Amino acid sequence: MPGDGIGPEVIAEGIRVLDAVSEVMNFELNWVKYPFGADHYLATGELLPESALQEMGKHKAIFMGAVGDPRCPEGVLEKGILLALRFYFDEYINLRPVQLLEGVATPLKDKTAKDIDFLVVRENTEDMYIGIGGRVKKGKSRQNLELLRTLYKIKFGLDIDSDHEEIAYQLMVISKGGAERAIRYAFQLAYDTGRKKVTSVDKANVLTYTYGFWREIFNKIKQDFPDVQTEFNYVDAVTMWFVKNPEWFKVVVTPNMFGDIITDLGAMIQGGLGVAAGANLNPEGTSMFEPIHGSAPKYKGLDKANPVATIMAGSLLLDTIGEKKAATLVEKAVREVLKQRKVLTPDLGGTSTTSQLGQAISKKTTEIGASF
Ligand code: NAD
Ligand code: IPM
Ligand code: MN
Repeated sequence: MPGDGIGPEVIAEGIRVLDAVSEVMNFELNWVKYPFGADHYLATGELLPESALQEMGKHKAIFMGAVGDPRCPEGVLEKGILLALRFYFDEYINLRPVQLLEGVATPLKDKTAKDIDFLVVRENTEDMYIGIGGRVKKGKSRQNLELLRTLYKIKFGLDIDSDHEEIAYQLMVISKGGAERAIRYAFQLAYDTGRKKVTSVDKANVLTYTYGFWREIFNKIKQDFPDVQTEFNYVDAVTMWFVKNPEWFKVVVTPNMFGDIITDLGAMIQGGLGVAAGANLNPEGTSMFEPIHGSAPKYKGLDKANPVATIMAGSLLLDTIGEKKAATLVEKAVREVLKQRKVLTPDLGGTSTTSQLGQAISKKTTEIGASF
């Protein structure tokens, strides 16, 4: 599903590389293309029909570019397509590796590839993303108004009618099951990958109900993993530590909202949004793979966007569908091309185009694949 903006350009390169690896490794990939995104929405009014969701559920994985377009109101495509997919398939893990690859520059002084190598597990279905909220205007929505009037009176002694003519509110929810499955996944990942430290990132010092609950669950689950070291960081402090001491982190687990924010920072320390990949996982169901960046409208159609994030998401896709060797091969090809620093897009300091970099990685895949 290419989507909007630079989505189609980067997905084309992702598909090019996955096709190359399937050929050299002797397995078949069948693609089904879905048109959903801004153009389709503007032409038909349709976002993502239930029938398409049902059909997608029969596939092994979804490979997705990005959605979001300045011609559409904020959030319509993001909620109606991207979040709809994550929720429909209950992709409760958003796995976002933060890995500095050799040949890519980090803005962090004196840090190298061995210092920037950790995995962020972002809870992907709840927290502030549940979409429950509203706007209350004087004289409208009596039911909501009554509730809020009572809450405001108790909490602040304020009378909504006179002090707050209009308010907006959005709820955040952490459920026991939702937090447990994300935190347990992070511990298991730490255990399985030998990265035996898990850092919980939250704001339990202020949002005590929700994130206090998250910590309680973290403390309970850690008892099942006695060899894994643990640590708590508040989200404000973690933005400092990601910059100052990224080498401290092995596996980070965090609720949805902070996970969104800190993984763009994570992307920057590994060389930018152009190289940062992500996987929306339902380990028991349909998963979706995408770069963590968006549709970058300013680069649309310019053949300038970096396809590496999408190609690395393709490697995560292969790993998840059981083509482990192919996944490793793609990663190896990306690493080699970047290390040579000959074919690079402008964000990495080069002058090559999206397709030139995609082609170089695809060629490298075929080359090293022959003796892999
Ligand atoms: P963005 O990630 O699209 O782009 C921010 C900036 O990062 C770009 O202007 C560019 O300088 C750089 N960048 C991003 N991808 C790059 C690439 N592949 N190569 C080189 N540079 C790259 O974020 P934004 O500008 O905040 O959002 C644009 C639109 O995308 C919005 O509509 C937003 O809602 C949407 N969005 C979608 C997704 C998604 O579909 N997964 C994710 C994030 C944002
Ligand atoms: C991301 C994006 C999405 C999110 C938006 C576009 C809904 O920022 O994948 O990080 O907030 O999760
Ligand atoms: Mn984001």
